[in-house]
Amino acid sequence: MKKYLIMGMLIVFGGASALFLTSKNVEAATTYTMAQVQAHNTSADCWAAVNNKVYNLTTYVTAHPGGAAAINAICGKDATAVFSAQHSGSTSANAMLVTNYIGDIAAVVVVPDITAPTIPTNLTSPTKTKNSIQLTWTASSDNKAVTGYKIYKDGILLGSTSGLQFNSTGLTASTSYQFTIAAYDTAGNTSAKTATLTVMTLAKNTTGTTTPNISKCHHDDDHEDRKEKKERKEKKDKKDKHAEYRNNFNAHTKNLIRKAEKIEREDD
Ligand code: HEM
Repeated sequence: MKKYLIMGMLIVFGGASALFLTSKNVEAATTYTMAQVQAHNTSADCWAAVNNKVYNLTTYVTAHPGGAAAINAICGKDATAVFSAQHSGSTSANAMLVTNYIGDIAAVVVVPDITAPTIPTNLTSPTKTKNSIQLTWTASSDNKAVTGYKIYKDGILLGSTSGLQFNSTGLTASTSYQFTIAAYDTAGNTSAKTATLTVMTLAKNTTGTTTPNISKCHHDDDHEDRKEKKERKEKKDKKDKHAEYRNNFNAHTKNLIRKAEKIEREDD
């Protein structure tokens, strides 16, 4: 057989046919999936993958110098680790692989997830205090899975949670806050924000937690002010009484000392 390389064109004479290969017309290697390799898993039909290349070892099973069992054990499998552990430095083993090469493992095409979760629904505030507002909502759905929810207060990201509730804390009493939330997935796709939910914290003198449905007495603040005033007065009265008692005590003590000194003088 004679080979002549003329201007990038390989012409093989002496074969049954002439093969023309140019740089524009190099055939892509045949590709196989691992599932296809796995289908050839017997000694009578034995394929194996090594370093993403596929080898048909069927005729080599019994010819293997290391024994048929070693090849049988890798039929239909990715043998990269086991082959390199045994033969990484073996020129003849690597050359034998080349002889049995039939194609490449197809690159796994990862389809990017670009679908955002649905917008969460039913954003509501079941409870609130003078300095915190509790939020709850109904779960979003996603083509893969919802990772979590971002919570925004007055348009600024407050935090996130994988659950269906969030407690916004450190708020000021009698103040309105605007909340929105958005769902996101593992790929970072984020839904649009919900409609704004405006919630006002309770008045500053309120104690405990109140649900928004329980209407609050309009005069609660007055009651609270009066209570505070009363407590202040009671404290002051107590203090005054104590001062009076102390003054009396001091006067009485001085009197006793004077009397004692007088008695002493008379004794002298
Ligand atoms: C995947 C394809 C394989 C090919 C093409 C291959 C090829 C060869 C060749 C050419 C030899 C003789 C020369 C040499 O040792 O370098 C050999 C020997 C040997 N092979 Fe393999 N081999 C393969 C897989 C394996 C596997 C998976 C094992 C075991 C885990 C194995 C175990 C052995 C042993 C024990 C010997 C004889 C002892 C030795 O010389 O190291 N071979 N193989």
